[in-house]
Amino acid sequence: MKRTLLTLFSLLLLCPARADEGMWLPSLISHRIHDMRAKGFRLTAEDIYSINKASMKDAVVLFGGGCTGELVSPEGLLLTNHHCGYGAIQRHSSVENDYLTHGFWARTRSEELPNEGLNVKFLVRMEDVTNRIAAGETAEELICKAEAEGKGYKAVVEQMYYGNQQFLFLYEQFDDVRLVAAPPSSIGKFGGDTDNWIWPRHTGDFSVFRIYAGPDNKPAAYSRDNVPYRPKKHFTISTKGVQEGDFTMIYGFPGNTQQYLLSDAVKYIAEVSDPMKIAIRTGRLDIIARAQASDPALRIHYAARHAAIANAWKKWQGEVLGLKRLNTCEKKAAAEKHFAQATGDSEVIALLREEIKRTLPYYYTRELLGETLLTLGYAYTEEEKADPLFAKREAVERALYRLAFSEYASRNTHLEPIGQFQAGVEQYGSPEAYADHIFVLAVNDPQNEELKALKAAIAALHTRILEELGTKTLRNFNSARMNELYARYVEGLRRLAAREGREGEMFPDANLTLRVAYGSVAGYEYADGEYHKPLTTLDGIIAKDDPAVYDYDIPQSLRELHASKDYGRWGIEIDGHRTVPVCFLATNHTTGGNSGSPILNAHGELVGINFDRTWRSTMSDIEFDPTICRNIAVDIRYVLLVIDRIGNAGYLIDEMTLR
Ligand code: ARG
Ligand code: GLU
Repeated sequence: MKRTLLTLFSLLLLCPARADEGMWLPSLISHRIHDMRAKGFRLTAEDIYSINKASMKDAVVLFGGGCTGELVSPEGLLLTNHHCGYGAIQRHSSVENDYLTHGFWARTRSEELPNEGLNVKFLVRMEDVTNRIAAGETAEELICKAEAEGKGYKAVVEQMYYGNQQFLFLYEQFDDVRLVAAPPSSIGKFGGDTDNWIWPRHTGDFSVFRIYAGPDNKPAAYSRDNVPYRPKKHFTISTKGVQEGDFTMIYGFPGNTQQYLLSDAVKYIAEVSDPMKIAIRTGRLDIIARAQASDPALRIHYAARHAAIANAWKKWQGEVLGLKRLNTCEKKAAAEKHFAQATGDSEVIALLREEIKRTLPYYYTRELLGETLLTLGYAYTEEEKADPLFAKREAVERALYRLAFSEYASRNTHLEPIGQFQAGVEQYGSPEAYADHIFVLAVNDPQNEELKALKAAIAALHTRILEELGTKTLRNFNSARMNELYARYVEGLRRLAAREGREGEMFPDANLTLRVAYGSVAGYEYADGEYHKPLTTLDGIIAKDDPAVYDYDIPQSLRELHASKDYGRWGIEIDGHRTVPVCFLATNHTTGGNSGSPILNAHGELVGINFDRTWRSTMSDIEFDPTICRNIAVDIRYVLLVIDRIGNAGYLIDEMTLR
């Protein structure tokens, strides 16, 4: 009995691509096209990715190195999320022209605002270069050759399956990307951090940019003489909307998933790492939120910091719950047993376990530092101190110092404490008293030797940890040796999948390369007896509207629009009642980086812009559960309504292709 159960578990786990799970490489999408079409997709693999003709990939960009964007007009108009354009909008904002608060609408092309340092990348092509590299060509040679093919070409070689496959990605990079429009934050960030990762959702999370090129339509540095880029392809927009059950596809740049982790690593994440980081961040958020509630100036000052800390904090909570609920650890352990039996390679698992055990103290300490001592600046500039707000900030900053010092002291259970830190705690009597001392130095005497020595000691520990792990950059729980072992393990998993006829069902971890995910519009059972419908409407915004609550205070123009019900072509009837769709849920497998990704219908037409997941879905970075994992999109009809009726920028819609 036990054995059958184990085998059953293992088989389930070893079939990674069930239901709507998967982030597929576009150049290999022909392996999935049959399944996509069975689920309702009407186009072909060539329509998604082609190097011979314009295809959907030519309308998708990596936006600013961490988000996705999509082309929606023959003149280079691009949509992404408000939270992806946030930095650019903020940099153009001043007290007189506060585009974050009031929105921004360029009335003519000459009003479109350039953004230094912002670029977008189109994928020219991707190519499996595993064999060429095995035959002796180096990645550098391949990159060099590819980049010589065109102006603005940038190439990278990316590893798939821990290096079992290497792909060359050739991009065309445009550096002149201008801000065209942004809704007020009370629309683009409606619900703020309160609603972040939450459904039902009502955020109009979009912004509009335009790509400019040289007169030859090729990438060019910013110049007044540049002209709107004429893309090979832009998405047609469907205003027909979506219904529960409709096919959806997401084309974008998911950043990072870890589907092939060993059970030991999952256990570490679920039981040690996430809980530790959540607890420390809860403390930091408490301090900041209390300060924000006490003073409007502090609320603004700490808004971005609070948002950044809270974003992962909420995500990890969902991840822990999800991993427990799915018994991911036990399933993985069973699958590892099955792997050992079926492949005869129990050694690789044993070696991985050993390496995880060896490196855990280092990785844990790295994470602890990252949440405590490395969050402090150790210096305040004269400019900062001259700000009248600084007097109020001091108490907050001091509290953050105390918290960081005490959390580091109490949770540093794996490696020797930093000598300098330990001595300070002993000298001053407690981590908090030592924190006070260091804080005063950071404020009054940033060049102080004692302060510098502490900073150097923290940096030295960090360097030592990276040396032990054998990596320069650290995103996930891994080490150089662990990566080699994972390469062997995942290769074994792939062979086993092939033997068991499931070869086409594995997909490489997300790594900020272009992927296709497909699924359908779907609600889900949130709790026993509590079903969450997949569509929200303007009425939900009005219900949340509250001028006294910052996150829910909508623009007066939106209130008036709702009162008039004059939605024009963007209105819909639901149960005999006139309203406007706002957000929807779907089952696409997404992660950070998919923000701004186009959501397309069965005909490849744009129906929404992805911007979030529900927090209880977030274990999908490790294990996807089709019953509960949902991505969140803003309905394109709400985007169009806001452009048309709030921004009075119908001229932008005139550029688009609507159907
Ligand atoms: N949760 C989304 C993501 O992971 C949105 C974050 C920005 N929005 C916010 N309210 N903080 O990026
Ligand atoms: N908001 C995320 C992003 O910025 C997407 C949400 C997720 O993690 O799925 O990419």
